[in-house]
Amino acid sequence: MLKVGVLISGRGSNMQALIAACDAVTFPASIACVISNKPDAKGLEHAKAAHIPTAVISHKDYADKQSFEAAIDAMFETHGVQLICLAGFMRILSPWFTEQWRDRLVNIHPSLLPAFPGLHTHRKVLDYGGKLTGCTVHFVRAEMDHGPIILQAAVPVLNGDDEETLAARVLRAEHQAYPAALRMIAENRVNVIEEKTFIADAAASGDAFYNPKS
Ligand code: GAR
Repeated sequence: MLKVGVLISGRGSNMQALIAACDAVTFPASIACVISNKPDAKGLEHAKAAHIPTAVISHKDYADKQSFEAAIDAMFETHGVQLICLAGFMRILSPWFTEQWRDRLVNIHPSLLPAFPGLHTHRKVLDYGGKLTGCTVHFVRAEMDHGPIILQAAVPVLNGDDEETLAARVLRAEHQAYPAALRMIAENRVNVIEEKTFIADAAASGDAFYNPKS
């Protein structure tokens, strides 16, 4: 059973999707600890309701990024965490942290990377006139929204979409993609070779590509 730590900053709906997946008896991972850098993150309430240990580690309480990240690292070590999932965690992690957790640190981003990294993703897709968008689950590297891609899910951009409708469609895909990626990692099927992932049996199962219809 892979022990997972989750880092959040807000609503935590992706964290909830991971918690729900881990609740199934056959799922090969469990959530050991949820850390938020924001004391008022809504996701903390959901984690507590699911009886998962939570902690608030606010960047504002630390003199510098290094001591903030060392506190996160120590808390996850205390809980025996083997893999960290970023779930709407809105701080950029330092090269020290990303190297410390290299290939054991995963992020979900609401676009088909490398298109549209950073903030305001859906607005950028609409402004550009993209017809297809989605989400990407990837191993984290020091460069923001960058690293070996584990799984992508695609959704259409529809006539009349605004940021809200597009974000909602992508979010539904995220809630399927993140647990699917976590399952593949926990089953030891994801190997990183020369900065690309190779998924054992993916060609047969189509696991690395999702195309949710809604
Ligand atoms: C999600 O859409 C996630 O992909 C995005 O923030 C949202 C968090 O929602 N993450 C990023 O933009 C990271 N670059 P949630 O708190 O409900 O999971």
